[in-house]
Amino acid sequence: MPRLPTAALPALAVVASLAAAPAAQAQVDPTRMVDTFEAVNGKFDGFRRSGAKGLCATGEFVGSAEGRRLSTSSAFSGRPVPVVVRFSVGGANPNAPDNARSQRNLALQFDLPGGETWQQGNISAPVFGAATPEQFIGRLESLRPDPATRAPDPARVKAFADANPEVLLQGRWFASQPVPASFATTPYWGVHAFGFVDARGATTWGKWVFEPVGGVQGLGDDEAKAKGPNFLAADLRSRVAAAPAVFDFNLQLAEPGDRLDSAVTPLPEGRRKVTLGQLRITAVSPDASGPCVGVTYIPTVLPKGVVASADPMLAARAAPYAVSLGRRLGEGARQ
Ligand code: HEM
Repeated sequence: MPRLPTAALPALAVVASLAAAPAAQAQVDPTRMVDTFEAVNGKFDGFRRSGAKGLCATGEFVGSAEGRRLSTSSAFSGRPVPVVVRFSVGGANPNAPDNARSQRNLALQFDLPGGETWQQGNISAPVFGAATPEQFIGRLESLRPDPATRAPDPARVKAFADANPEVLLQGRWFASQPVPASFATTPYWGVHAFGFVDARGATTWGKWVFEPVGGVQGLGDDEAKAKGPNFLAADLRSRVAAAPAVFDFNLQLAEPGDRLDSAVTPLPEGRRKVTLGQLRITAVSPDASGPCVGVTYIPTVLPKGVVASADPMLAARAAPYAVSLGRRLGEGARQ
């Protein structure tokens, strides 16, 4: 298996290139957000406060003619673009089980010509767990363990969810899906809408999903139990040693009237899908090191030719990610 480059990327360089975030707006305080993550999900020194259990990989992206038609971004030139990849299991716990019906993540950094970067953090569900940052922190607060029982108060959890039914959509999705057989056999959605700007300045809006070209594969309940809680990293290493793991980068195109500002509202079924290019994962870190460790993947770090939607959850991500990065680097970054 090819080894990864050992030099870590300069950790904070990408934060400085955060150009495309929508105009400043009042946000939930990012420190309070990360403090609440720690209070509810636990604090694990050195680890990401979300997506803690993961591993680095590298690969390349090759854009398609359709990608070039929709966007001027150099990502779609058709020449291979190097990508720094991180796969992870959802949640703050670095010991989260791989054999549960829970979230898997695909984080990407495209290193484009001229020092430009494009970062993404994609998840294995078409919806996020809240519509707004205020609703997200409200949900987390409702799950905060009661100091006496060390468990959330069921009445409080129910009252919040009854008043905010969107927070149940993601859990229902995971409950309806099998345990993913591999990081390489799961689709990963961007969840937010993004705009693709062509050479004439026209913007095409849509929501993307990375789909495994080998097909989606899940585990039956008995298979998942037999695999145990730690199989995903070894599985990915052995698959990629044999052949690259390949995903199509597909964009579902929005039509007039579709919601572009909601991470809990997928585009309607049947919207046309185009393939913007192909992602090939060609190397996986043999251990917990690698070029993704010092990176935080901020989904508003966008290249020229791709623009953010007005989804309030999208704008709210950069600041808490930077807070989490600062804390984990200060503690000695691990994964
Ligand atoms: C205000 C809302 C959100 C907050 C406060 C939040 C918080 C965080 C934090 C603190 C991290 C760890 C960052 C690091 O240490 O590098 C993280 C990682 C991640 N988040 Fe979020 N998040 C939010 C919304 C979302 C949404 C809407 C998605 C859906 C696509 C998402 C997907 C991810 C993924 C895929 C990762 C793992 C990235 C990696 O491997 O580094 N997050 N999030």
